[in-house]
Amino acid sequence: MIVVRGGRSLFGRVRAAGAKNAALPAIFASLLTSEPVELLHVPCLRDVETAVELVEALGKEVLWEGGRLVIREAGPLSPRAPEGLVRRMRASFLVLGPLVARLGEAQVPLPGGCAIGTRPVDLHLKGLSALGAELTVRGGWVHARAPRLQGRTVYLDYPSVGATEQLLLAGALADRETVVLNPAREPEVVDLSRLLSAMGAETHWEEDRVTVKGGRELSGASWEVIPDRIEAGTFLLAGAITGGKVRVEGVIPEHLGALLVKLGEAGVGVELGGDWVEVAAKGGLRGVNLETRPYPGFPTDLQPPMVSLLSLARGESLVTETVFEGRFGHVGELLRMGASIRRQGASLLIRGVEGLTGTRTLASDIRAGAALVLAGLVAQGTTYVEGTEHIHRGYENLTEKLRELGAWIWEEGRESSR
Ligand code: EPZ
Repeated sequence: MIVVRGGRSLFGRVRAAGAKNAALPAIFASLLTSEPVELLHVPCLRDVETAVELVEALGKEVLWEGGRLVIREAGPLSPRAPEGLVRRMRASFLVLGPLVARLGEAQVPLPGGCAIGTRPVDLHLKGLSALGAELTVRGGWVHARAPRLQGRTVYLDYPSVGATEQLLLAGALADRETVVLNPAREPEVVDLSRLLSAMGAETHWEEDRVTVKGGRELSGASWEVIPDRIEAGTFLLAGAITGGKVRVEGVIPEHLGALLVKLGEAGVGVELGGDWVEVAAKGGLRGVNLETRPYPGFPTDLQPPMVSLLSLARGESLVTETVFEGRFGHVGELLRMGASIRRQGASLLIRGVEGLTGTRTLASDIRAGAALVLAGLVAQGTTYVEGTEHIHRGYENLTEKLRELGAWIWEEGRESSR
């Protein structure tokens, strides 16, 4: 459980870790080759542990030292993904494409829904079928067979991050070219395409599509994972909500564009450098309206912590969540802390309040947990956040990094550093 005592403004600098959502597909890309793949700047997170356990269960051996992973082939790969690992982390479903492309067959459990929505994988399956995979869904498992995947043009009805990554991974070993129309353009997806290029598959981005030219064999590679824009954004929001001044270093500022525009509209001072972004309170916060959208729109992963900030912004804010239909787990808990938020379908009408009051709260997912920690930083009294296993899935040493910025925050029932 995380314990936060509100009332301290945060000041100082923190360095962004490697991006969880770039590291995970990069780990699964190692299944495409028998040669070693080295990944650098990998964050130390529960989800990365799960991805490592999964590729080890499939036949890889992994050396993990600090932020460096070296993934080698220990023997013939298995086509069958262990159910427990896939159910623990949805992103594990991304092993389907690489396994069927490399081995000609794969058996992977369907990932369940989670706290933010039903999260179907229909676009993943439709895309792999288009490449020639014979898919049978039976008893919660996907059975895939394909002597050889054939490159095709695939249109995504929605620019799904996971489906785009699934098709890039499968297309990298398919015959000829795979074209994905209406792809996701999140930085993490682009980073994966660059890793695949480094492994020998030619990838190419245009206005409305990404193309991957497969090969029969891919080589290993050494790859540095991009900085985590969602972790960075969370620290910037922590600085803003507490009325302090926080600089996050080691980021790619353009990846934070939408957040920085909205922070500026909310009355927060924003400064940029080559690889850093700094926020400073300039007085009271003003309400803003926003919609979450696929990149470069406002990221859905920053909607929950942004709602915490807007709960204290003067006036009204209208926040519309267009990506995940269920991403409101933080709202009920913020109401218990004294926020004034009314849900209208996919939108939240937030009326700024003078202050929040600390209480016992429960995190339902990674980003809802971050939202509650941020609310606790500024609430009167003490806030207890249960469900911290979610937070550790997506944030590396969150409490230590916030404490370094001056927060009164600690964790009970967990060793102080990982
Ligand atoms: C990725 O999830 C991220 N996870 C999420 O981060 C992130 O919130 C999301 O992209 C959006 O940016 C990883 O990268 C591991 P989607 P993903 O497929 O791939 C619908 C975090 O906190 N959809 O773009 O699951 C889906 O239901 C996590 O780090 C279909 O309908 O996102 C959703 O409404 C949370 N059919 C929308 O698309 C499909 O086949 C966006 O999902 C696939 C998706």
